[in-house]
Amino acid sequence: MKAIAVTPRKRTVEIINQAEPQIFSPTDVKLRMLEAGVCGTDKEICAFEYGTPPAGSEHLVIGHESLGEVVEVGPQVTRVSVGDIVVPMVRRPCPHDYCIACRADRQDFCFTGDFQERGIKERHGFMAQFVVDDEKYMNVVPQDMRDVAVLVEPLTIAEKGLSQVWQVQQRLPWGCPVVPGKAAAHCHRAVVLGAGPVGLLGAMALVNQDFDTYVYSREPTPNPKSQLVESIGAHYISSENIAPEMLPEHVGNIDLVYEATGASRLAFEMIKYLGTNGIFIFTGVPGRKGPIEVDTDLVMRNLVLKNQVVFGTVNAGRDSFENSIRDLGTFTQRWPAAVKSLITGRFPMESYADLLLGRFSGIKNVIRLN
Ligand code: BGC
Repeated sequence: MKAIAVTPRKRTVEIINQAEPQIFSPTDVKLRMLEAGVCGTDKEICAFEYGTPPAGSEHLVIGHESLGEVVEVGPQVTRVSVGDIVVPMVRRPCPHDYCIACRADRQDFCFTGDFQERGIKERHGFMAQFVVDDEKYMNVVPQDMRDVAVLVEPLTIAEKGLSQVWQVQQRLPWGCPVVPGKAAAHCHRAVVLGAGPVGLLGAMALVNQDFDTYVYSREPTPNPKSQLVESIGAHYISSENIAPEMLPEHVGNIDLVYEATGASRLAFEMIKYLGTNGIFIFTGVPGRKGPIEVDTDLVMRNLVLKNQVVFGTVNAGRDSFENSIRDLGTFTQRWPAAVKSLITGRFPMESYADLLLGRFSGIKNVIRLN
């Protein structure tokens, strides 16, 4: 079968031919892969800045945002059936007994760092024609979501982030004030940094949870992303028109910042404008650049005097995948055109070089695998 692989030692990215994987354990499932999304992490791996091949292998098959169809199941499989379409999870637990997170199937919170990630860290990924894995890592998707289900994995980032927001905010009364005789208003304001797929999916998740949502990004308006943002009832603000320090005036108390650019400079600039009782979520994994200056006294004063919380989040456990499948279904009903327009192109495997090595435009580009 064909697969897209990097070989860091030789600094190559290519289509390779390798043996089709076979069912080995009784709970294994074999998938015919339909699609894989291309994301920033894949591009970093292809630039040899990130990613590790499996032990004993020179190459790593990449790809972690995916959709496959079940073509064969082991004799003890109960959760999926032949013909189901599924999105596999990415992380696999570390082997240590004392890692209570991994032992509780919460490898997204692995304590030891010895977890593996398919297509990223020490396990081959999903940009291959066939994949075999245990049924416990498979998430069945309704057939009518086939067109958009490749977005499930990137949406898990927002799902995991937002579930933590609600947990954290239990620390204070955080409901919206009820004014007698008036319908409940949106009272929480969120700023999403970046209008890439993670930002736009995050914006959908925030609007869906009733946040008054502002997407802050570089490109001047109007542009296809600003139109998409407006079409889901959020607001688009271009940094060309409004500088970060003007955002609180424009938005009001910023209750939540959802960072989705992977650019630490902008993120640490924005931390200064996080509002009272606000939460700042980091989702990006930046490449290492030079150090920057940060007004640490101001940041620290605000953290204390405004009761702020800053957290980082890496996707994702099973509940995030399940919530993602459910919410993507809701988004598709609420905003069918907007969800479809997130996927800007579907390409054959042979286009891998343009998609992974070039500066390809669009929002989410997808590789067809079969
Ligand atoms: C993937 C995650 C992974 C992270 C860090 C992201 O692109 O979606 O599954 O944990 O990269 O490797």
